[in-house]
Amino acid sequence: MNRMKDKVVIVTGAAQGIGAAYARALASEGARIVLADILDGTAVAREIETAGGQALAIKTNVSDEASVAAMAAATVERFGRIDVLINNAAIYASLELKPFEQIDLAEWDRVMSVNVRGPFVCARAVVPYMKRNGYGRIVNISSGTPFKGTPNMLHYVTSKGAILALTRALARETGDYGICVNTLAPGLVLSEGVIENEEMRDRLTGPVIASRAIKRDQMPEDLIAPLLFLASDDSAFMTGETLVIDGGSVMH
Ligand SMILES: NC(=O)c1ccc[n+]([C@@H]2O[C@H](COP(=O)([O-])OP(=O)(O)OC[C@H]3O[C@@H](n4cnc5c(N)ncnc54)[C@H](O)[C@@H]3O)[C@@H](O)[C@H]2O)c1
Repeated sequence: MNRMKDKVVIVTGAAQGIGAAYARALASEGARIVLADILDGTAVAREIETAGGQALAIKTNVSDEASVAAMAAATVERFGRIDVLINNAAIYASLELKPFEQIDLAEWDRVMSVNVRGPFVCARAVVPYMKRNGYGRIVNISSGTPFKGTPNMLHYVTSKGAILALTRALARETGDYGICVNTLAPGLVLSEGVIENEEMRDRLTGPVIASRAIKRDQMPEDLIAPLLFLASDDSAFMTGETLVIDGGSVMH
């Protein structure tokens, strides 16, 4: 119940979907939460507060430097510090599956700008606050897809591969300041967005389940214990690593 007591945690992309599940779980462990999303996260913030927690929703575009800097400053103004960043925001569930020749440059750039530049911009904004306290946890959300080379979303798979590299290099640059940087890589999760995206749900679910050692759907709840492990002191001597949580589809 108190694994994250008084820790100040920013969860990007937490207005809905898996990010909202992370935010609720972190709050239930005592964290004070900032929900940073381009969508309005007020409903999730209210839910957390009704359950006795503390939360603040701040409309944020993770790929926009000024927007992220304002979010980090507002976090410190309200809660006094920043301990943990969960880089979860991404363009994912709204994507249409298509061969790589059909991905135009504008779509490629949009995915890279949110999925790769976003985590970079957010890390750059929060690390100075973490350094002040000699403490930080950054959890970057990747995916099983770069391990598998999943077809028909080349921009997305490439962006999530970049997250593995970003995690490793950032871990080396921040370890001296008490900051751990790790990656959580989920398999196909029945998030709200995936359930709504009929093509993604119907075309991918069957083959993905067949590829797992544990043959069932993956739910957001399957990610909570690993996320809490990476966000808390339980993983204090672990950095630059990737935890794949997908029922044994990818084994690395
Ligand atoms: N659902 C899955 O099967 C699955 C599998 C592996 C990895 N993931 C990853 O987990 C994370 C969450 O997945 P999900 O299914 O909930 O995705 P989702 O697409 O439903 O949610 C992404 C969230 O990010 C927000 N967002 C998008 N652009 C933003 C921006 N510029 N600034 C701030 N917020 C922005 C969206 O508003 C949304 O709330 C993503 O990083 C995704 O890539 C998901």
